[in-house]
Amino acid sequence: MPVDLNNARPLAWDSATLDADTKAMLDNLQPNILRAHVREHLSVLFVRFNDAAEGKAFLRHVATTHMKSARKHLEEVRDFATRGRRGTPYVGIGISKAGYRDLGHTVQDVRKFGDQVFRDGMKQRVAEVDDPPVDQWDRTYQREIHAVVLIGDDRPEPVAKLRQEIRAALPASARVLGEETGQGMRNPAGDGIEHFGYVDGRSQPLFLKDEVDREPKKRWDPAFPLSNVLVPDPFAPDPRRHHGSYLVFRKLEQNVRAFKEIEQHLADALGLKGADRDRAGAMLIGRFKDGTPLTSKGKAGGGPVSNDFTFDGDEGGKCPFSGHVRKTNPRSFGREVLMARRGQTYGRRTDHPWDDAPPETRPSGEVGLLFMAFNASLENQFEFTQRTWANNEDFQNPATGHDPVIGQGRREIKVTFPKVWGKPELSPPQAQVAQTITMRGGEYFFAPSLAYLRGL
Ligand code: HEM
Repeated sequence: MPVDLNNARPLAWDSATLDADTKAMLDNLQPNILRAHVREHLSVLFVRFNDAAEGKAFLRHVATTHMKSARKHLEEVRDFATRGRRGTPYVGIGISKAGYRDLGHTVQDVRKFGDQVFRDGMKQRVAEVDDPPVDQWDRTYQREIHAVVLIGDDRPEPVAKLRQEIRAALPASARVLGEETGQGMRNPAGDGIEHFGYVDGRSQPLFLKDEVDREPKKRWDPAFPLSNVLVPDPFAPDPRRHHGSYLVFRKLEQNVRAFKEIEQHLADALGLKGADRDRAGAMLIGRFKDGTPLTSKGKAGGGPVSNDFTFDGDEGGKCPFSGHVRKTNPRSFGREVLMARRGQTYGRRTDHPWDDAPPETRPSGEVGLLFMAFNASLENQFEFTQRTWANNEDFQNPATGHDPVIGQGRREIKVTFPKVWGKPELSPPQAQVAQTITMRGGEYFFAPSLAYLRGL
């Protein structure tokens, strides 16, 4: 029996009654897809093969010596929680369309990937998502990338060691085209943050029963079917039990100084005073810096970061329709669009991203997000979100404006903001905030099943 990806019940992965097919699925799935793997320190290698046999031997070597299964990862998480036993590092692999071709798969073969966006590759999709022209991308991404190797852990040493071992195993015919280094950042409360200083990674589609059970769920149901993130691996020995996931990788540079100036100008323009000035940035993100959802509360603070909310009854008087989290997850519809986000911040800071230091002390480049997300369909999830929601000034309502964080493309219309939280009175129309995030390059990959990789 094929694994039922549409089952609405979250997966009880360690249940004694788990069927053999689902067990096989977990034993052959890469970690970090169904559940985020610790990757406080992250090394990302972009590889080009040039010789099919040697490329295959390299991937097989990495899979058999360094990669664990999704099930092993989940067992490690459980053992850490119950016995404090430390887990092993994460190694993940993604292969691009060009990579599959270079490994010897024919054009017809590659058509077995149902996702047109994957088959096009990111360079072909620039116009659709309003990305900068390819010749403006970082050099690494202008080249033809065949595979990405991700190495992550909570400590830097195991990552450095594995990176060295994996690089040393590359055949002479292959090349590392470029590398990125991710490094987690946390605020004083211990929550993971991104460079603008806001808590990030809180809202995720959850697939596993133990994760779902821990969440309050009066308003928002965090449980999602596997079909949001898994597809049969077309080249695996048994695609009914061997799955993979489409991985989008985008290097997104953040101009933190500009964003902090924008927060202040917006607070001035709306006449916000004192602590209420924090609402300016919160209206752009949809959450306060500490993660408090703006639709739930008019000011920051009050316990653990909530994800149990919807925008029902909020006609934009609390959280604007343009707010990043509202654009990218309207919550009352579009659940099938939600991706499993697995990004990591890059770039070193000496300042404290969460505090109120003046904008001129903030970096204007060289820092940002290595945006990564697993999808069952790049076309209907990542690209749909970027294109039809974030870049679309008329989503969800006419004249909503672009997503002020990730929206790309010309911002022509003017927009309004609520002057007082929860009151219908809106500001006079004003120019949309400038784009402060620049896409520096990326690629679409497929994270194949371990069964495929081991059998190469
Ligand atoms: C949530 C920042 C890029 C989609 C968030 C949150 C922050 C954030 C602060 C709130 C934390 C949370 O709810 O988990 C950023 C920054 C980005 C970026 C600074 C770029 C540098 C993207 C991109 C996409 C995206 C490229 C997709 C096209 C989402 C989604 C959520 C989210 C789906 C969760 C919304 C929800 O379920 O409530 N982001 N983001 N983000 N972001 Fe982004």
